[in-house]
Amino acid sequence: MVFLVTTQVMELWFTVLVHEWETAARALREDELPRALDALRRSRRELDALNASWLPLAGLTPAQFNSYRGALGEGSGFQSAMYRRLEFLLGEKSAAMLVPHRGTPRAHAELEKALHEPGLYDEALRFLARRGHPVPPSVLDRDLSRRYEPSEQVEAVWAEIYRGDQRGEEVRLGEALTDVGELVWRWRNDHLTATRRAMGSKQGTGGSAGVAWLEKRAAKSVFPELWTARGNV
Ligand code: HEM
Repeated sequence: MVFLVTTQVMELWFTVLVHEWETAARALREDELPRALDALRRSRRELDALNASWLPLAGLTPAQFNSYRGALGEGSGFQSAMYRRLEFLLGEKSAAMLVPHRGTPRAHAELEKALHEPGLYDEALRFLARRGHPVPPSVLDRDLSRRYEPSEQVEAVWAEIYRGDQRGEEVRLGEALTDVGELVWRWRNDHLTATRRAMGSKQGTGGSAGVAWLEKRAAKSVFPELWTARGNV
């Protein structure tokens, strides 16, 4: 029961977060920074609430998990369309991750559309480019259906912003995105830890290597240059 309720609660928070980040992305596209910052700040609190919902599951033992694992069949987090939308908005695009949604045409079509749309970070970088920052064309015109790859020039843009006015709008944008990145990283790591406690090195119900696969996901930085730029400020 706790597992079922927690997954439903988290699905609902994913829906809220997708809504907030789509609002923020649209606001940035329209050069409405205050509206974008409001949505990002709201999402910070919502991410805290999402992450707090790990607590009831965090101490699941292998025997407890085994007692209902069979009932999940091949069911897995890979089937969460909202989580996939959320990862796409953060720049973690992947056409391969659409495969588990082939059986649900509506969700598949929505994800297919989202795969080709700019994410939150794409909109933030386009916004900075319109304000005169030297974001390179290779980033601005990138293939949106691929995972966002870090760029040295983008790192230099953030370092320059962070060396400037600490109370300026662009530092605020950087910090709001960094908060989001940190809290998403926490979700991934809490998920990894709960999984490690519940099933050790077993394979996932969705067919992945389980903990080993989740470790790779959890090691990734969200909005990578916002982290690496700090070494050059
Ligand atoms: C402690 C209980 C849990 C265990 C043991 C567990 C295990 C796993 C494993 C092994 C994977 C990798 C895919 C696979 O092979 O199935 C995975 C992925 C995933 N799980 Fe869980 N999970 C747990 C709880 C949850 C909860 C409560 C949610 C909330 C919705 C969730 C959402 C997801 C999502 C969205 C993915 C895909 C992650 C990605 O694409 O990076 N899991 N989980």
